[in-house]
Amino acid sequence: MKRLKIGAVGGYRGAHLAKNFMLLNCDVVAFCDFRPDRLEMGKNYLNADVALYDDFDKFLEHDMDAVILGNYFHEHTALAIKCFERGLHVFSECISNGTMAEGVELLRAHEKSNSIYFLAENYPQMVFNLEMQKVCKSGTLGRILYAEGEYNHPSPGGVVSTLKALSYFPEHWRNHLPRTYYVTHSLGPLMRATGATPKRVSAYCVAEPEIRDIPSARCVIDRTAVITTQNDDGSVFNFTGCTTYGAHHNAYRICGTEGQIENVRGMGDKVLLRYNEWSKPEGMDEVNFYDAVYSEEDKKLTSVSGHGGADVITARMFIDCIREGRQPEHPFDIHSAVAMSSVAILGHRSMLNGNIPYDIPDFHNEDERKKYENDRETPFYGTDGSKPTIPNGSDPDYKPTETQMKLYRELVMEEK
Ligand SMILES: NC(=O)c1ccc[n+]([C@@H]2O[C@H](COP(=O)([O-])OP(=O)(O)OC[C@H]3O[C@@H](n4cnc5c(N)ncnc54)[C@H](O)[C@@H]3O)[C@@H](O)[C@H]2O)c1
Repeated sequence: MKRLKIGAVGGYRGAHLAKNFMLLNCDVVAFCDFRPDRLEMGKNYLNADVALYDDFDKFLEHDMDAVILGNYFHEHTALAIKCFERGLHVFSECISNGTMAEGVELLRAHEKSNSIYFLAENYPQMVFNLEMQKVCKSGTLGRILYAEGEYNHPSPGGVVSTLKALSYFPEHWRNHLPRTYYVTHSLGPLMRATGATPKRVSAYCVAEPEIRDIPSARCVIDRTAVITTQNDDGSVFNFTGCTTYGAHHNAYRICGTEGQIENVRGMGDKVLLRYNEWSKPEGMDEVNFYDAVYSEEDKKLTSVSGHGGADVITARMFIDCIREGRQPEHPFDIHSAVAMSSVAILGHRSMLNGNIPYDIPDFHNEDERKKYENDRETPFYGTDGSKPTIPNGSDPDYKPTETQMKLYRELVMEEK
């Protein structure tokens, strides 16, 4: 079988993702980052014979089959469209579009191309989420009514090495990231397990200022967003965006008419599957508490890949799509990806506007596209020098203290 030729953008995550494609017998042939320090970082991490580019357009001229987009969180659309125009397949992490207008543009460009678009959302491939998907598919939970998801990543704050790796200049997207935007890690696993897609969204945020004298350029006061969606099958999801409260976890729970399954917070890969006494399947207990495990054939592969092995499984799903000449399944397909981005963007809008609900547009429908095709509201700075047009949190005036900024400039940016 012909080996696939892969190109990757982004010195940190882009390079990490590319390593997974190497594990799967693909050739990573080209690598791009427009910052010299990050180009070097990616090159060292890949440690392979790879053509290096500091310009995306030149990189696209390299002979390759597919591109991994690990550039800034909110700027994937323009790069994806350029890939479509060259017939290249796209593996894009994590939200597909940073504005509603970009969602429309992405879909329109994709319809004109033969490229496969895969939203590189890896959390559904974590071992406990695969187990939840298997149980949902078995039908023993009955009709799914309700599900919860939490992506909770607290950090001690002010750790210089982390800031240098992840939010290394004041306008960086992580310093301005509204809490509803980083939504795919909590929503993606629920959509994958249940097959549902959000139709309506509302959101609340919880503010908690950082008052310690630590290096910080973070301009968002909120620590969590709680998002509720009503879905196309009538079910309801309740989930967080990127959240930072005490005790790290990624937690999910799916409830049906006959039973429910969850992974147990703080207990590794343990899952808890419960039924009613009268509805438990033959051979099962009312309460089943066990370890989720990858299949025998995947144990070795997943043991050397990031996010508990989920990264390499996600890469393999994309490769399967390319080999089989098909678009991915829900929710990795382009319409699901854009729907998730709409939840992120309109969830934030809900929070800013008194928590009112917003309909998630169905962009199969041209009338709904028209409504949003010029909607470029954004809380982010752009690489092109553009500025935020809306607040990034529940307190629009919140910003780091002078001491926090001084420490950030001295220690993270190493300004003299
Ligand atoms: N799924 C996961 O588990 C996971 C983990 C980490 C990051 N991510 C995602 O990966 C993406 C990248 O995040 P990151 O942590 O690597 O940090 P980052 O966003 O700072 O890195 C982006 C990199 O792309 C480069 N870049 C940006 N625009 C470019 C362009 N037009 N041409 C060439 N290079 C360009 C930047 O110089 C930078 O090195 C984000 O979307 C993030 O959400 C996902």
